[in-house]
Amino acid sequence: MRNLIIYGTKYGCTAECANKLAASLEGQTDVLNVEQNATIDVSVYDRIIIGSSVYMGQINKKLKKFIEEHLAKLLGKETVIFICCSLPDNFNDVLAANFPEQLLANTMEKTFVGGRLDIDKMKLVDRTIAKLMSKQKGDVAPVAGILYDVIEDLAKRLNEHSKGA
Ligand SMILES: Cc1cc2nc3c(=O)[nH]c(=O)nc-3n(C[C@H](O)[C@H](O)[C@H](O)COP(=O)(O)O)c2cc1C
Repeated sequence: MRNLIIYGTKYGCTAECANKLAASLEGQTDVLNVEQNATIDVSVYDRIIIGSSVYMGQINKKLKKFIEEHLAKLLGKETVIFICCSLPDNFNDVLAANFPEQLLANTMEKTFVGGRLDIDKMKLVDRTIAKLMSKQKGDVAPVAGILYDVIEDLAKRLNEHSKGA
């Protein structure tokens, strides 16, 4: 099983989730930041795992573009989506607003993996909004934090699925 994890991040939380997932997946796994290279050939992979954080209800723009451009090939693959953000209560709305319906229908796992507000790293505008969101003025305002157990469980399910396939 050859996996590609392609992700979009602003302050590194999604990158951490992507690398954590990669470390727990069996088989060969390439991890790619969509900002660094959106020109990859997806056809060589068996499974494509797409991960993004969410800002103002939107996933990473380059990742969205990548999905649109590669949709036909993605639909022929096993796909997984993970979302790194603050609150899961509107999780399905976020998915519906950001991913093509066909891709969502074809995707075997859609998972919320937690999120983190890295206040120290943020630009002023984001920091101001983040402080409002967290309603506290600490250096690092926790959201849910990264849900490491959820990532581990996702990796286990995917590894089991690969064995059964
Ligand atoms: C300015 C700002 C806007 C955000 N907007 C949303 C949002 O609309 N929905 C949400 O669930 N989380 C939102 N978040 C939380 C981020 O998605 C969360 O902090 C995530 O873990 C950041 O991941 P990243 O470091 O990979 O970009 C927002 C955070 C900031 C700072």
